[in-house]
Amino acid sequence: MKILVIGSGAREHALVKTLLRDANVEVICAPGNAGIAQDVDTFPINATDGTEVVALARENAIDLVVIGPEAPLVAGVADVVRAAGIPTFGPSAAAAQIEGSKAFAKQVMQDAGVPTAGAHLCTSVDQAAAALDDFGAPYVVKDDGLAAGKGVVVTSDREVALEHARVCIEGRDGGAVVIEEFLDGPEVSLFGITDGVTVTPLSPAQDFKRVSNNDEGPNTGGMGAYTPLPWAPAGLTEEVVQRVLQPTIDEMARRGTPFSGLLYAGLALTSQGTRVIEFNARFGDPETQVVLTRLDSPLSDLLMASATGSLSELPPVKWKDESVVTIVMAAEGYPESPVSGAVIHGLDDVVDATVFHAGTKRNDDGDIVVSGGRVVTVTASGTDLNDARTRAYTAVSHIHFSGEHHRTDIALRAANGEVHVP
Ligand code: AMP
Ligand code: GLY
Repeated sequence: MKILVIGSGAREHALVKTLLRDANVEVICAPGNAGIAQDVDTFPINATDGTEVVALARENAIDLVVIGPEAPLVAGVADVVRAAGIPTFGPSAAAAQIEGSKAFAKQVMQDAGVPTAGAHLCTSVDQAAAALDDFGAPYVVKDDGLAAGKGVVVTSDREVALEHARVCIEGRDGGAVVIEEFLDGPEVSLFGITDGVTVTPLSPAQDFKRVSNNDEGPNTGGMGAYTPLPWAPAGLTEEVVQRVLQPTIDEMARRGTPFSGLLYAGLALTSQGTRVIEFNARFGDPETQVVLTRLDSPLSDLLMASATGSLSELPPVKWKDESVVTIVMAAEGYPESPVSGAVIHGLDDVVDATVFHAGTKRNDDGDIVVSGGRVVTVTASGTDLNDARTRAYTAVSHIHFSGEHHRTDIALRAANGEVHVP
């Protein structure tokens, strides 16, 4: 089977490396990054242009196209590739609205009876002010559009909340925000691979959204992750399939926009029960790096079965009996204004861990340099979380670049037998 992976992040590097473990699988990637290019051939196409993706797939006799990031999904690349008759992992543009529009996602959850935070859609600053006062502090204000996890402000400062709402509403035509009830409790990322009918859950993970230790500083795309969750209640995955993933997939099918690909449920385990914080229409980054490292079944079979509607025919997914931790090493200035260009040293000194590349490229001298906010994610397995953390942080200590920063508390509380509540 020959597979084209679309994207250029550490998530796509993990997809590529995991697919390469399978027998009789060949992989290419577009556009990729400096790390992915060490593993497979990469092609510098515009990945949000479906016709370019189809042309590349045809030239390389591709059997399956796997779309990693949200931007090409929302732009309809999966629709174009599927219309060309090529099996595709990833939802249609219509189904990807579950991530692309927070208001749409809320409506689907309401219609499907899926538990989530109470919310108001606001298209004026006055409405936003009223909604903030309705829910009270802490305030949760979300841009109603794709913002790569960075359009959300959670704050107890009403001025800050209102200012974010103003920027989102007035910043572009049709600007809107969703203002929500605050959800307490630990967060869980649970992925379901689906063909639009059947859903196969993956190993639950926890992501660390804030840039600094102790969940301080602004939200990011994610600064680290681990799986499995030793503190998770028994039956969590089954409950989420029953109450969240399956009803959502059924509702999307009922609407005539079936969702196939990966449905990512971002959950809060609140004192009132499990609530959905958000849906994404793709694998999460950095959770994918830990989830796929722990996977012990052929990923290519799962993705092909999603694309061809045959998930129910696959055997149950197997997981390695180990814990996995990943640490994001970020560029100077991330997330506000990441600085590119620093040379990355020590990548070859890492043993006992896997370095998935995100914002990296080769400069004219052949050095691997920083070219994005999240630069590499360093991923290690161990017999338990303590063991995995030690290996991951030892690997991190070998890698250096100017302005580099990372959290030192990824999976720390879970490794100490506590629950991490952001
Ligand atoms: P989102 O882009 O919706 O995933 O939000 C990013 C992050 O903001 C989440 O991972 C949470 O840490 C936080 N967040 C979002 N919505 C809420 C909420 N209703 N209550 C508490 N925290 C939230
Ligand atoms: N790590 C959060 C996300 O992928 O949206």
